[in-house]
Amino acid sequence: MEAIFKIPAAAKESRHQVDDYECIILGGPVWAQNISLPIRAFIKRDSEKFERLALFCTEYGEGGEKMLGKAAKPSGNEPIATMVLTEPDIQSDLLDQKVDAFVKTVAAPMEKNL
Ligand SMILES: Cc1cc2nc3c(=O)[nH]c(=O)nc-3n(C[C@H](O)[C@H](O)[C@H](O)COP(=O)(O)O)c2cc1C
Repeated sequence: MEAIFKIPAAAKESRHQVDDYECIILGGPVWAQNISLPIRAFIKRDSEKFERLALFCTEYGEGGEKMLGKAAKPSGNEPIATMVLTEPDIQSDLLDQKVDAFVKTVAAPMEKNL
């Protein structure tokens, strides 16, 4: 019910300083075609401190693409990489392919700085 009505969840206090990191990678399940509530709360609270954001989600099969498009909006910046993993992906070779592509895209800007 909370997911359907987008009732905010309290984000736990971070054990890490978000602004110490070059890229924040957030992921979680799709709930009622929405981002999960703890992730939503985290983005809302800390997004101004994100240098780069990458997002992924797991889903049974519906809502992830739309959800990732909306999820980054409070941060005001586009995610540098997104990935939707469906249940059939996880049962197939697509899992490795998608994860490899996501990791390469996330790592690319950091490799330039080495
Ligand atoms: C309350 C709830 C709502 C969900 N809504 C969706 C949905 O809209 N679309 C979808 O594809 N999967 C939906 N799912 C399935 C989850 O996305 C899927 O179980 C999850 O990605 C797998 O991660 P987990 O093992 O952490 O649950 C929902 C699951 C729950 C519990």
